[in-house]
Amino acid sequence: MTLARKAARLPSIARDGWRYPALRVRARGEDTAIGALAALGLPEPELRELAHEFERVAQRLYEELAETAREAGDELAATRAAGRSASSEEGKKLLYVSVRALRPRLVVETGPFNGASSTFLLHALEENGGDGRLVSFDVLDARDALDVPIPEGREPAWLVPHELRHRFELVLGDTRQTLRRRLEGETVDLFFHDSLHTTRHMLFEFRVAWRRLRRGGVLVSDDVFWNPAFWLFTRVHRVPFRHIGTMGVTRKP
Ligand SMILES: C[S@@+](CC[C@H](N)C(=O)[O-])C[C@H]1O[C@@H](n2cnc3c(N)ncnc32)[C@H](O)[C@@H]1O
Repeated sequence: MTLARKAARLPSIARDGWRYPALRVRARGEDTAIGALAALGLPEPELRELAHEFERVAQRLYEELAETAREAGDELAATRAAGRSASSEEGKKLLYVSVRALRPRLVVETGPFNGASSTFLLHALEENGGDGRLVSFDVLDARDALDVPIPEGREPAWLVPHELRHRFELVLGDTRQTLRRRLEGETVDLFFHDSLHTTRHMLFEFRVAWRRLRRGGVLVSDDVFWNPAFWLFTRVHRVPFRHIGTMGVTRKP
């Protein structure tokens, strides 16, 4: 395939046009997961303890994800799970510790893809005990930003272990059609965007989620430097934000 044809097939994440380095400049330095959540008002001593807990469980979760992927013959997913980078691990820590510290009843995630982040979110909910649940939204034919599909015959979040599925719901379809309707009447404690990273789509999801987010609830977005959406959103709502690698985090006052 020629380069031009390949580019034409890329999902619109790559066609939105331009990256947004200004956010990196305007963000007050890059944070750690714990530093970011503490700056947004969560109690630091508890966060530090939860970070130790994350370090104890992360190795096992990564290994289990890699093992499940390998057993299913998805070497790429296995390699991704096993070859974790420092920045993606810090992102997982942000999600895990947020769930443990907030003790949410409802966590919402868009774009679970294979389900690596979903597994960390669900494991944290399980540690909380109680009735916390995760609702994740993806399209049936899930593809990552490089157009890599999930394995044939699988649903998005297929890596989520069986024993965590009792608190998990997958909503299939474009979030433009599904998100608002599914969240009607719900109160969200933690929202995590990782679906389509165009300005328009991110702003759409942030708006819908923000309306449903409780006071003190947390909004996390991956890939906030792809476009100005996250920066614009936090400015319009006059809320502080922090960023950890490629992720942004803010909290509803
Ligand atoms: C970058 S991947 C997410 C990676 C994943 N969160 C992880 O932890 O590995 C983006 C995901 O968003 C999904 N997606 C893209 N556009 C979407 C849309 N309009 N509605 C719902 N999901 C979408 C894709 O199918 C894909 O699964």
